[in-house]
Amino acid sequence: MAIQLDHTIVPAHDKEVSAKFMAHIFGVEYPGLHGHFAPVRIGHIAFDFDNRENFVSNHYAFLVTEEEFDGIFGRIQATGYKYGSSPMAQDNMEINTRHGGRGVYFKDDNQHSWEFVTVSYSFPGLKAADDDGGVSMPSAMAAVS
Ligand SMILES: [Fe+2]
Repeated sequence: MAIQLDHTIVPAHDKEVSAKFMAHIFGVEYPGLHGHFAPVRIGHIAFDFDNRENFVSNHYAFLVTEEEFDGIFGRIQATGYKYGSSPMAQDNMEINTRHGGRGVYFKDDNQHSWEFVTVSYSFPGLKAADDDGGVSMPSAMAAVS
């Protein structure tokens, strides 16, 4: 199947401040405004930050490699922002080890909840590939796709 998510809008109080902050957390370069939006490009998906006065905070979760987790978690810790181990405890300053991997949540200044896991629970057993940013699919899942 060729369908994939191309972009989504991330509402923010200050789109460029927020995009630069999240680009830093991800460890990617912020490319500057792209037309109206302040994009953060993760793989082939653009997270287009855009200013809004009022919005509902969202949840964004990412499957990352162990190495990427180390970098992202280190940068979260360096910000001094609170982080946590579950949706109900996003500020307990702990990470989780559910599903045989590591996971962490934190909220940005827009109160969006960002989650990073090394093993997917949406697709049980799925891990991020270490090489090209693609994903490796367990054989049990590959058989049904
Ligand atoms: Fe989640």
